[in-house]
Amino acid sequence: MVKKGMVATLVFMLMFALVGCGSSTEKTATTEKKITVVTDAAFAPFEYMDKGEIVGFDVDLLKAVMKEAGLEYELKNIGWDPLFAAIQGKTADMAVSGITINDDRKQTYDFSIPYFESTHMILVKEGSSIKSAKDLQGKVVGVQNGTTGQEAVEKILGKENKNIKKFENTVVAIMDLLNGGVEAVVTDNAVANEYVKNNPDAKIVAFEDPEHFESEFYGFMFPKGSELKQKVDEALKKVIENGTYTEIYKKWFGTEPNIESLQQ
Ligand code: ARG
Repeated sequence: MVKKGMVATLVFMLMFALVGCGSSTEKTATTEKKITVVTDAAFAPFEYMDKGEIVGFDVDLLKAVMKEAGLEYELKNIGWDPLFAAIQGKTADMAVSGITINDDRKQTYDFSIPYFESTHMILVKEGSSIKSAKDLQGKVVGVQNGTTGQEAVEKILGKENKNIKKFENTVVAIMDLLNGGVEAVVTDNAVANEYVKNNPDAKIVAFEDPEHFESEFYGFMFPKGSELKQKVDEALKKVIENGTYTEIYKKWFGTEPNIESLQQ
């Protein structure tokens, strides 16, 4: 009788210890830690600085998704190349920066489900002889270093071509176009259109070339194997389905999004 009671007490104590342990590890791992999100805020309308604040379509979407997922986070503007290093080295938990999901990057990083469809555009000065991607041959072309825009231009001009000028961010690439350093800039269509719309006096025009530029999709980026991905995917799906995504899209682009294109 006494023996049985002691065993029962021991078992009870052991269970208590185990349960206690389990819940405390889970807390530190997921619920209490603020998530660090990194970006390159020189890519309007997706992310850019306005009066000392990071704003843009990506910023609003991130906010909605994290709210839906019940996650606390902090968004830091660290620049494009450092953003990849931070995710690879796991000093950041997530990146949001109009980042295209592609096979090359998928080898090193994990991505959320797609949230935006994009293609490339060519920016030139008004009156330029460059009318298509083919016309970029023999011209000095600016791109943001390490972007899919760089890849797209390399496909046309060749990988080692010295005429491809690589910039730290897209804003400085466009400034070099204004200053006559490069004759064209290749960047994501929404960014090209935004620049032209906001700078009518710059005398810059943007055009597409569907024959040479494919469509691609943006996703949130995580370190490989991150447990955040699933939570973010679920929240993103909800935000797309419940109309919040459409609201944010309309605020920044003034048109209805093509949600079907994201779900293919
Ligand atoms: N979508 C392109 C890529 O993933 C360019 C993204 C650049 N984003 C930025 N915030 N600078 O390569």
